[in-house]
Amino acid sequence: MLESVERRVEQFVGSLNEHDIARVIKKIPAGKRLRARLMLEIAGSSKSVIDTAAIVEMIHAASLLHDDVIDDADTRRGVASVNALYGSKSAIMIGDVLYSKAFYELVAVDKFVAQVVSNAVVQLSIGERKDVVMGEQFCTDKDAYLEMIYQKTAALIEAASEAAAILANKDREIYRVYGRNLGVAFQMIDDILDIVSDTETLGKPALNDFVEGKTTLPYIYLYEELESMEKEKLKSMHRRALSVSEQQWILSKFKEHKIIEKAKEEAFTLINEAIGLMQKAGEKGLEKIALKMVDRSF
Ligand code: FPP
Ligand code: MG
Repeated sequence: MLESVERRVEQFVGSLNEHDIARVIKKIPAGKRLRARLMLEIAGSSKSVIDTAAIVEMIHAASLLHDDVIDDADTRRGVASVNALYGSKSAIMIGDVLYSKAFYELVAVDKFVAQVVSNAVVQLSIGERKDVVMGEQFCTDKDAYLEMIYQKTAALIEAASEAAAILANKDREIYRVYGRNLGVAFQMIDDILDIVSDTETLGKPALNDFVEGKTTLPYIYLYEELESMEKEKLKSMHRRALSVSEQQWILSKFKEHKIIEKAKEEAFTLINEAIGLMQKAGEKGLEKIALKMVDRSF
């Protein structure tokens, strides 16, 4: 079924008759297609579901093209990023093409679905901007972090679930909360993987977030636990290249204070809540998707 979404994305892009752009887009690795998977699982594979899932995946792809320019990322999903291959200008404009074409198609679907999806794109743009601004300083504010990852990542996953529920005439609220929890947990896990994975599995250097300025949940928790001298030491390492011994110091402190376990626990709580909702709704497939997310790389 996911194949039908892939084909619809190809059709949407193909209908622009811009072969050079289509060729670049075709080369972008598909990734997990989490948002489309959720939608198909919730609402089946009618034309409107496939169209909406393709639209959501195009928006997601556009946001990653822009994100890699913003983050100066040379790789995405283990291969060279579009900005690394074709330059930032092309990456931004190809993102704009994907994004605008997605909106062109969105006006043809259900009005409530269009509202939910377009609102999520506003949220993700605001969230990405917060990520950039927050990265300029060492952040110790957990609520600000949670709000930012909700907007940057969870909003579109939440919208995909809610939109699918609307199309399937199911209870919007249950699926919205399910998607929201999954999305927040997804970003928390992504942030943990930046610390625990090696460079090869990750497709980017480990501890890269902190070097970039991102004080993610594990760093917020670590800061809370450190003594005042150590707090200053951690702060002094923020947003700059780290030596091997500095990396080792951070990793040893994470271990000493069981920070990774604590951060994982927080993600697992959200996933368990999502699973509980789906158990009640009798949605076995959606329970499975949530479970799979937990062991995606741990
Ligand atoms: C990845 O975060 C980034 C996002 C999930 C959202 C990016 C959103 C935008 C650039 C908003 C504008 C987009 C459009 C189409 C209007 P990350 O850098 O923490 O994750 P990564 O490790 O996957 O790079
Ligand atoms: Mg990024």
